[in-house]
Amino acid sequence: MERKRILTGDRPTGPLHIGHYCGSLRERVKLQHQYHTFILIADVQALTDNFSNPQRVRDNVLEVALDNLAAGIDPACASIVIQSQMPAIAELTIFFMNLVTVARVGRNPTVKEEIKQKGFGDSLPFGFFGYPVSQAADILAFNAHLVPVGEDQLPMIELTREIARDFNRIYGDLFVEPEAKVGTVGRVKGLDGNAKMSKSLNNAIYLKDGPEELAQKVMSAYTDPTKARKNDPGHPDGCMVFYYHGIFSPNCPDIRQECLEGRRGCVQCKRQLIDSLEAELGPVRKKRRSLEADPGYVHQVLRQGIQAGREFSDAILARAKQAMRIDYREITK
Ligand code: TRP
Repeated sequence: MERKRILTGDRPTGPLHIGHYCGSLRERVKLQHQYHTFILIADVQALTDNFSNPQRVRDNVLEVALDNLAAGIDPACASIVIQSQMPAIAELTIFFMNLVTVARVGRNPTVKEEIKQKGFGDSLPFGFFGYPVSQAADILAFNAHLVPVGEDQLPMIELTREIARDFNRIYGDLFVEPEAKVGTVGRVKGLDGNAKMSKSLNNAIYLKDGPEELAQKVMSAYTDPTKARKNDPGHPDGCMVFYYHGIFSPNCPDIRQECLEGRRGCVQCKRQLIDSLEAELGPVRKKRRSLEADPGYVHQVLRQGIQAGREFSDAILARAKQAMRIDYREITK
């Protein structure tokens, strides 16, 4: 029987951080042996809000590829594909635009939040507003069954399911309605306590950060401002060091109580967090450094990924066009 497929992806607007890692990256690494996996580097989507800064997108394509490989993506199981190199995605996007209303796209809470955060005001680009439609094409071009993503991506998967359903109803059965799979930690807060870790908020720990950088970031994380001395009782809720312990130090159940009772100094607590982070991220960084030294290898992985991705998505596009009566086979044969 044909193996089920995964499609997931990242925007190459910066290197990947521990939010990506916990939300989706760790999950896709685990699932790659079970599913036929495609990992999309979404450069076209990155351009929707970086169209005037193409070099930034260009530079980060390689960074995102390195992060995926360093986290354990195995090119023998998974194809890493570059979105702009998949013409099928662009074509499907055009067809899917007919299947969604402007009002429906406008209700997407993630896009609404981004529009606010980026301060687009009256100059909201049409492409940015509509990127969820293109994201549906990312997923359906690979007819994926499963999409491992962070929590903020759930509205995109819902829209994709609706598009698949409508396409199948109108033109005939072709697309799988994909399921989302959110990692054990759906969303990771930033070092400053912001609900979202992101490059633009400057509150992220990156997979590529060196040990000193990582330590320095932990040392400067937001903590309980009322806890001045080592033996002051603290307020762990709201403290970002306590919060990250919850994610990266699952075997230390006493942290909360010790802090509350004033038996835990912040410096000691931070050092312990650095150790936990290093245990998880140290091996990823080590692998990344060795891949960074071998760009030829990474290029080869991408070349093969693009080839495999194109073959697969072109075949889906051909079937979609046939279903839509725009294949013109008797004319063009
Ligand atoms: N929108 C996703 C993000 O911002 C990236 C992405 C693009 C994606 N295409 C995708 C995720 C397809 C899952 C499936 O992180």
